[in-house]
Amino acid sequence: MERSLSMEVVRVTESAAISSAKWMGRGLKNEADDAATTAMRQMFDTIPMHGRVVIGEGEMDEAPMLYIGEELGLRNGGPEVDIAVDPLEGTNIVAKGTNGAMTVLAIADRGNLLNAPDMYMEKLAVGPEAAGKVSIEASVTENLSAVAKAKNKDISDVVATLLDRERHQPIVDEIRAAGARIKFIQDGDVGAAINTAFDETGIDIMFGTGGAPEGVIAAAALKCLGGDFQARLVPEDDEQLERCKKMGIDVNQVLQLNDLVSGDDAIFAATGVTDSELLRGVQFKGSHCLTHSVVMRAKSGTVRFIEGRHSLDKKPIIEAAGE
Ligand code: FBP
Repeated sequence: MERSLSMEVVRVTESAAISSAKWMGRGLKNEADDAATTAMRQMFDTIPMHGRVVIGEGEMDEAPMLYIGEELGLRNGGPEVDIAVDPLEGTNIVAKGTNGAMTVLAIADRGNLLNAPDMYMEKLAVGPEAAGKVSIEASVTENLSAVAKAKNKDISDVVATLLDRERHQPIVDEIRAAGARIKFIQDGDVGAAINTAFDETGIDIMFGTGGAPEGVIAAAALKCLGGDFQARLVPEDDEQLERCKKMGIDVNQVLQLNDLVSGDDAIFAATGVTDSELLRGVQFKGSHCLTHSVVMRAKSGTVRFIEGRHSLDKKPIIEAAGE
C-alpha cells in the first residue's frame, strides 16, 4: 500500500468526527451515526484507491452506505485495498456527550482483513511490552501476572480495562481476586484496546467480549503498534454458528493477530469525537473547529498524532452531513 494513503484516510475520520460531534449530547445516537457515515462515505470517494468495504455498517440490504461489498475511492487505478470502518465507535457516548467516542477505520491490502460477522467476540489486548507473553487460553490471573512481569510492576499496579457489562462479572471477580485494578468503560472497546499500547493512558490489558467488527479494527491498530490482540468468535444462536462455519472458523479457534489482520501492512486511523485518554474530541470555535487524530502504519511502525484546524465555511461536505 502507498504510504500516502495514511494521510488521506485521516481526512476521512476527521470529516466523520466533525459531522457526528455536532450531535453530541442530543440523545440521538442514530443521527450521530448517520452523520458520521455520510461524511465518511463522501470523503472516501476523494481518495486515489480502489477500496472495498469488508467491515461496515451491515449487509447491502440493511445499510444504504458503507455496506459490506461497497466499492469506495476514486477507483482510477490506485491500490486495491480492503476497508474496515466503524464510522462512529460509541454512538451512545455521543448521544450522552460522555468520554471515549471516536471515528475509526483500518485498511489493508485486498484479502488481508478478516471479514468478521456482526456478532460478539471475546478479546484480549496488550501493548508491545506484553506482546507474545499473554494468551486468551490462559486464565485472567495468569495474564495479569504475565503483564505485571513484562512491565516490571507489581500485580496491584496493573490496570485492566473492560466493558461494564453483567456478562463480565466472572472476569471482574478474578481481576479483583488477583489484586489488580480495573477501569471500566461504558462503550468503545476499540479505544480501550489501543490504550494498552500507550503508557500514558495507564491501561495495561483489555479483557472481555464486544463486537467482532470492532475487534478486527482494534487488531489492525495493535498490529501497527507492535502489541497483541487475540480473539474468539462468540456466536449466540444457530444462525451465527452457521455463519462461522461458512467462514471456515471453528468457534473454539483462537484468532491470533495475524488471522485477524494478515500480511505485513495495515493502516489504522482514528479521530476523537468526544475526549478520551488518547484523543481530544472535536472542539467547535465558530468559523473553524479543531480535531485530534492518530494514524499508524504496520509496515513502518510510524504513529502520528495530527491536530487539524478546519475552516467550516470552506468544508461543505462536513456542513451538509452534520446538519
Ligand atoms: P456502537 O458504537 O455501535 O454503539 O458500539 C459500541 C460498543 O461499545 C463497542 O465498542 C463494543 O464492541 C460493543 O458496543 C459492545 O456491545 P454491547 O453494548 O452489546 O455490549
